[in-house]
Amino acid sequence: MPRDDNFLKEQNARHLWHPMAHPADSLANPPTIVTGARGVSITDIDGHEVVDAVGGLWNVNLGYSCEPVKAAIAAQLDALPYYSIFRGTSNDKVIELAEELKTFFAPEGMARAFYTSGGGDSVETALRLSRQYHKIRGEAGRVKFLSLKKGYHGTHFGGASVNGNANFRTPYEPLLPGCHHIPAPYPYRNPFNETDPERLAQLCLQALEDEIAFQGAGTIAAFIMEPILGAGGVIPPHASFMPGVAEICRRNGILLIADEVITAFGRTGAWSGSRLWGVQPDFMATAKAITNGYFPFGAVMIAEHVAEVFEKDETGKAAIGHGYTYSGHPVGAAAALACLAETRRLDVATNAKARGDELFAGVQALMDRYEVIGDVRGGHGLMIALELVEDRATKTPAAKSVPGQVQKTAYEAGAMIRVSGPNIILSPPLVVTADDVQTILTALDAGFRAL
Ligand SMILES: Cc1ncc(COP(=O)(O)O)c(C=O)c1O
Repeated sequence: MPRDDNFLKEQNARHLWHPMAHPADSLANPPTIVTGARGVSITDIDGHEVVDAVGGLWNVNLGYSCEPVKAAIAAQLDALPYYSIFRGTSNDKVIELAEELKTFFAPEGMARAFYTSGGGDSVETALRLSRQYHKIRGEAGRVKFLSLKKGYHGTHFGGASVNGNANFRTPYEPLLPGCHHIPAPYPYRNPFNETDPERLAQLCLQALEDEIAFQGAGTIAAFIMEPILGAGGVIPPHASFMPGVAEICRRNGILLIADEVITAFGRTGAWSGSRLWGVQPDFMATAKAITNGYFPFGAVMIAEHVAEVFEKDETGKAAIGHGYTYSGHPVGAAAALACLAETRRLDVATNAKARGDELFAGVQALMDRYEVIGDVRGGHGLMIALELVEDRATKTPAAKSVPGQVQKTAYEAGAMIRVSGPNIILSPPLVVTADDVQTILTALDAGFRAL
């Protein structure tokens, strides 16, 4: 029986734990109860409607009223709601989708798809398959992983082990042995005190070379990175960085995993982060926007030369002992097919670039007016962050309550924004209009003015 609004408000956070939240905090500050959505807006239980500047969780790229994806999901539930694709069975939709993904990611050199249930699963899959790749080739000692501090790769044990933020790691240690981190190309804060993005990129690349020499290239399976760091606070590296990483990896026999869980499918203004930087990685982890967030699904894309090593193996070492009950879920695959077609038809990458430029210019103008904004980062589509500080000279992070206060007022003024540590993160659907961008900026302005 449907429960009334009072029941829902009274029970809010009482019998469930929220991801990425302290259970006591959720009880003290009950979360906003979202009950509806349309276009690029969400509505809460009190009927308050706001532009969703979070885009679900970087995934609802086409907004909440994407009828082709909804229709594809409904039709697939009727035709085949589930069947496994473990050895011996397949379904029509995963076969079609692999073709589409291969075409979509042809410029990145991707040849095969391995399906998952989400971003963390995609990361885990790429990490595991990269170790197996080396074992097939007779280099069983290549087992370590390198990654960037500030990187976010989900919360599975493998993903957390390559993750570059302490709060996702410390409570769950010990993590996987053999995971090592290099400094992020983050000009606002870095151990080199270097503010020039290009020089900083070179220093981080030198740190990578140094770590490889220290560990021994022959012990390292893969390097994993986001082409633009997302959850760590939207950190776009200098254009020389990812190509530099790719060159160093290739020279040392280390596989490059591009974690494109956020950046694939247009968010950066390019169709993928790797394409933005002109890089062909060995694996691409994708998820999120692949189904517009309407169904949990992901795909790891595999480069042709990696696929060949597995497919030509005659020893049995390439048998894949990895996969999920929901790998290749037919409903997810049907959603992804419809989503890819809409993504292309609407050319959302072009809109992401244009609206992203407007939003970035808008937050830069806010920085001129509000001292509490220490840094703004963006310039590549619809992934933008504002880092809040107590004092611009010392860069002391703003008190914990400050971003939350901005969020609260901005919500009342018409936009849902995301708070992550001292950062406000903006990642709206890629179909936002210029008016929506103005709504987000006006709401943010109200949030800062009220501090
Ligand atoms: C770059 C990146 N990788 C992996 C993940 C983990 O994805 P999921 O939460 O679907 O497991 C995320 C989630 O935000 C992400 O941003």
